[in-house]
Amino acid sequence: MAITGRPKVSVIGGGHVGSTLAMRIAEAALADVLLVDIVEGMPQGKTLDLSESRPVVLNDVTISGTNDYADIAGSDIVITTAGVPRKPGMSRDDLVEINSKIAASIAGNIKKYAADAFIIQVANPLDAITYVISEITQVPKNKIMGMAGVLDSARYRYFIASALGVSVKDVQGIVLGGHGDTMVPLPRFTWVGGAPLPDVMPAEQIEAIVERTRKGGAEIVGLLKTGSAYYAPSAGAFEMAKAIIKDEKRILPVAAHLNGEYGISGLFVGVPAVLGKNGIEKIWQLPLSESELTALRDSAQHVKALVDKVNELGIL
Ligand code: LAC
Repeated sequence: MAITGRPKVSVIGGGHVGSTLAMRIAEAALADVLLVDIVEGMPQGKTLDLSESRPVVLNDVTISGTNDYADIAGSDIVITTAGVPRKPGMSRDDLVEINSKIAASIAGNIKKYAADAFIIQVANPLDAITYVISEITQVPKNKIMGMAGVLDSARYRYFIASALGVSVKDVQGIVLGGHGDTMVPLPRFTWVGGAPLPDVMPAEQIEAIVERTRKGGAEIVGLLKTGSAYYAPSAGAFEMAKAIIKDEKRILPVAAHLNGEYGISGLFVGVPAVLGKNGIEKIWQLPLSESELTALRDSAQHVKALVDKVNELGIL
């Protein structure tokens, strides 16, 4: 189902990720944006402020805010960002109970008002919350995905580019697995100006960058003290929405529902996928080594443990 006319993207959650994402979408004139939050006046205020920037940044999209979920009707894409962020010292997994409950209520509203939309899920713990929204909305699995791999890969590529003193444009690399400490950066599938990363960087330095990437979210939480990252997360969600709206066929790492690919079934886990007008059009199969596959499956086991916790909450 192709998106026709000017697309509409609804962003659920008007916090830092949601409002920054609304700004990115509007400034790229990618779609009309609706910002939804339960706090009275907040999404209206933020989107009025954004709209007032339009004559300066020059775009003609509509940016509006609401407290009423009925307004998401007609959305081509719904992006869910609402949830409680981590505090210093917390892991993303510590948020599973509270954010699952928030996600369950959002999912009920998506099912009611925008059942045909693509869903890009951003709240943490990423993979488990994507499962909650999938179970409740029952949208086809090609239409729902979590945003984490683009963020984790962006951090990884940024660290590599700065360490080598080269442009981020010339570093290609990918991080798979769940969005947590078990994520799987893949140095063997990372290239700098055409050279495989292990040929241009010593192993210890690669290991340090892999470790920093795994802890990338916590590093920001530790610095900010109140709240978590939002510039890079919103850039990741924007990239995915753009790939779908513009039918780009980008191969991006996303939390996708797996059905035997990489030997994993019935879970949302970060893998490369082709994103286009049909959402996830294909899971991209990388020729992983035994040890890379084991790391990916271990990460999937970690996601499974969280999903088991969600199933015990009795909200599905
Ligand atoms: C991060 C959080 C938002 O990785 O998951 O920054």
